[in-house]
Amino acid sequence: MAERKTTGKNDRKNILVKPYQPEYINRVLAILEKNGYNWNISSNTLKYCLFVDGKLVGFLEVSKALNEAEVYIIVIDPLYQGKGLGTLFLSKVLQELKETGVDKVFLEVSTKNNRAINLYTKLGFMEIFRRKSYYKDGSDAIIMEKIL
Ligand SMILES: CC(C)(COP(=O)(O)OP(=O)(O)OC[C@H]1O[C@@H](n2cnc3c(N)ncnc32)[C@H](O)[C@@H]1OP(=O)(O)O)[C@@H](O)C(=O)NCCC(=O)NCCS
Repeated sequence: MAERKTTGKNDRKNILVKPYQPEYINRVLAILEKNGYNWNISSNTLKYCLFVDGKLVGFLEVSKALNEAEVYIIVIDPLYQGKGLGTLFLSKVLQELKETGVDKVFLEVSTKNNRAINLYTKLGFMEIFRRKSYYKDGSDAIIMEKIL
């Protein structure tokens, strides 16, 4: 994926989406941990990082098979959340997926994760299914889909 400058409400900042590189591992794990995730980064997925003014502040992992993709995780450093960066990051990756032939994207989110649900809904994801009591805390999993 080519590095791109983003546009929009974060114009004044230097914001880039770049493919994940192994040397980012410690920073990515730190962001995952800060968000409460004990996450195993897979070797056979597409992975992207979000940089603001040279600092890695976000990580996104997605699996792709033919024309379909599934977003496994998107995390933004808590210090940078609520500033439109998650919107920008996911939008850029969806755009990239579309350009490589993906026309359908799925993801799964807990009913308790309002911020993520709001983000996904805002970007056009629609609920297609629920898995009752799917998570350890008893919350349901919402399966969402977006046609690109
Ligand atoms: C979910 C997450 C990726 C969103 O990224 P973000 O940069 O914080 O989100 P944005 O600032 O782009 O906001 C996106 C939308 O979320 C909603 N939102 C933002 N802050 C919110 C809050 N405190 N409460 C509820 N909804 C909120 C809004 O709808 C917002 O859109 P709007 O600003 O146009 O109204 C980020 O908060 C995060 O990393 N959370 C922890 C990890 C996680 O839960 N990941 C998703 C499951 S894998």
